[in-house]
Amino acid sequence: MVVRILLLGSGAREHAILSALAAEGAGHEVTVAPGNAGIAAEATTISLDPENPKLVADFAADNAIELVIIGPEAPLVAGVADAVRARRIPVFGPGKAAAQLESSKAFAKRVMDAAGVPTGRAERAATIEEVVVALDEFGAPYVVKADGLAAGKGVLVTDDRDAALEHAEHYLQLGPVLVEEFLDGQEVSLFLFADGETVLPLTPAQDYKLVGDGDVGPNTGGMGAYSPLPWLPAGFVDEVVDTVALPVIRQLASEGTPFSGLLYCGLIVTPSGIRVIEFNARFGDPETQVVLPRLVTPLSGVLFAAATGTLGEVPPLEFSNDVCVTVVVASEGYPSDPQTGRPITGLDAAAAVPGVAILHAATARDGDRLLATGGRVLSVVARADDFAEARARAYRALHEIGLEGSHFRTDIALRVAK
Ligand code: AMP
Ligand code: GLY
Repeated sequence: MVVRILLLGSGAREHAILSALAAEGAGHEVTVAPGNAGIAAEATTISLDPENPKLVADFAADNAIELVIIGPEAPLVAGVADAVRARRIPVFGPGKAAAQLESSKAFAKRVMDAAGVPTGRAERAATIEEVVVALDEFGAPYVVKADGLAAGKGVLVTDDRDAALEHAEHYLQLGPVLVEEFLDGQEVSLFLFADGETVLPLTPAQDYKLVGDGDVGPNTGGMGAYSPLPWLPAGFVDEVVDTVALPVIRQLASEGTPFSGLLYCGLIVTPSGIRVIEFNARFGDPETQVVLPRLVTPLSGVLFAAATGTLGEVPPLEFSNDVCVTVVVASEGYPSDPQTGRPITGLDAAAAVPGVAILHAATARDGDRLLATGGRVLSVVARADDFAEARARAYRALHEIGLEGSHFRTDIALRVAK
């Protein structure tokens, strides 16, 4: 069945969603607002403001859109899903109230406590004196988090007590901060489709959050990812469903704020078990770029089921046995001060490497030229039978790409490549 779809967002995550919809071969009519240069080459793009609830709902109604897919968090927090749902148009993404699971770390902690979900201990501090008490209670390494959305910059994990205090002082100007217990272990991102009552898990991925090889430097939106995670214990996904996702979904439903859309569980596998570090209310970027290419089940049907409360009728999702690696190309100066407006070259040669797809993030056309317009510019995605080959393909493609001053990590998926 052909579906008329409106997809909101402009990153490589949205490009990956678009590619997954196209891979169904059903010929869906997809309009993307606002998209980017890579997306514009494959779908209709419009300059509609994705964060304006009324404009999005009007567009969807006027154009007989059958499914609205919300990519990033900002439209969710702005109430776009509520406005579309009020017009009785199926929308993939939670309303503003349930999206607080991502937009307010204090809200997320309260819901986790109420639902009995395992997470690190945390103290909310409104003054620097309270921060000092909490830092000394938990000890080093110190974890300090701004409460609201901060595009990955609000969190500091450090052994340096003065740096922790300085970070807290900065964010206290905006409101209370959270001081958390440090959780030691491998990080896992697990996405689950949710329809308010039930959940359907996707397949785990691992994100590389810090800018530099060997996990050094500042936190970013994510510099690369791979999937699947061969080192996870059997039963991991079921355990997350039973001890994390379902309790949270049930708790939110009981509070009158049912969560429908994508529940992103950011987890740490510690020696004493799985702990939640954060929830997001949308697909992760860049993890989506390695999860969706492996999805065999047609994506649109599952998104529609989540949007219409019928996920319980959908069988378990199927994934291919291929592995997938993505490496993000970032502009000079990212994350603190990305330099933009520079030309990108070599994408045709990069895309010609077997198993490779180039997903666009911050790109725009300027006549014949392709320009980088932001911090994370491209996601180079490689599929193969094994991680060594997927890495080889991704890095072969990366060496074809020209963007002055750009940087990427060279160790994505290295730990699983034999
Ligand atoms: P968040 O925005 O909460 O996901 O935090 C960003 C990153 O900081 C996470 O992906 C982790 O790498 C790290 N982090 C956050 N909280 C903790 C914690 N309690 N213990 C260890 N690392 C953490
Ligand atoms: N890759 C982390 C995120 O999407 O929040």
